[in-house]
Amino acid sequence: MTKVEKNNNIKTRINFLKNFFNDVKVASLTPSSGFSVKRIGKKIDFSRRIVIVEFGPGSGVYSKHFLEKMGPDSHLILIETNKDFVDQLRKIQDERLSVFQDSAENVQNILEQCGETYADYVITGLPFSYFAREEKHAIVQNAYNSLRPGGMLLSYQFNYGVKETIEPHFDNIKKDFEPLNLPPLFIFEAYKSSNGEGTAASNNGRSK
Ligand SMILES: C[S@@+](CC[C@H](N)C(=O)[O-])C[C@H]1O[C@@H](n2cnc3c(N)ncnc32)[C@H](O)[C@@H]1O
Repeated sequence: MTKVEKNNNIKTRINFLKNFFNDVKVASLTPSSGFSVKRIGKKIDFSRRIVIVEFGPGSGVYSKHFLEKMGPDSHLILIETNKDFVDQLRKIQDERLSVFQDSAENVQNILEQCGETYADYVITGLPFSYFAREEKHAIVQNAYNSLRPGGMLLSYQFNYGVKETIEPHFDNIKKDFEPLNLPPLFIFEAYKSSNGEGTAASNNGRSK
């Protein structure tokens, strides 16, 4: 790492800490570790055109990695509520990137605004344990609805209990774990079936 990169890294961490104290929904003292970013990145097929939607990108540690790996016609859509993070993310100059200051709940409307029908991947590090029950289920339901059949929701969390938020909406969930993060991360890979038929909860959501 060069001296400039080191200084930028320190600035990002200080700013993250500042946002943690100012905004309860930031819910983390530091950005995710490089180990977590690499582990999540390996679960994504970057060899074809893909649409990735990221909920709560924060300072953009995952977003920058995705942009490095994505092909020229892929699309990364970031949905972040915190204004300070949004201002930072908007400084990234890349035509494949769209940044929205909005809540993840509005993902379907945002995809439409971007001219996309479906997402191939939804990546979320939202701190679901801080959300009201209805809000977190609406977010996961809308993520399900926004995915193409065969698409994947990737959720990384400090708390294993988040599984209960995802389970009613997806019936095929794989688990993984990243110990080299502060604190360690539980990772859930939830797949939308290729025929688009999901669980009772997700079918109810789609018929709304
Ligand atoms: C635990 S931090 C994760 C940040 C980043 N993904 C990382 O791993 O370094 C959670 C992020 O979710 C954002 N957030 C919280 N509620 C949100 C919502 N309803 N919609 C979109 N983003 C939200 C917070 O502002 C914060 O940036």
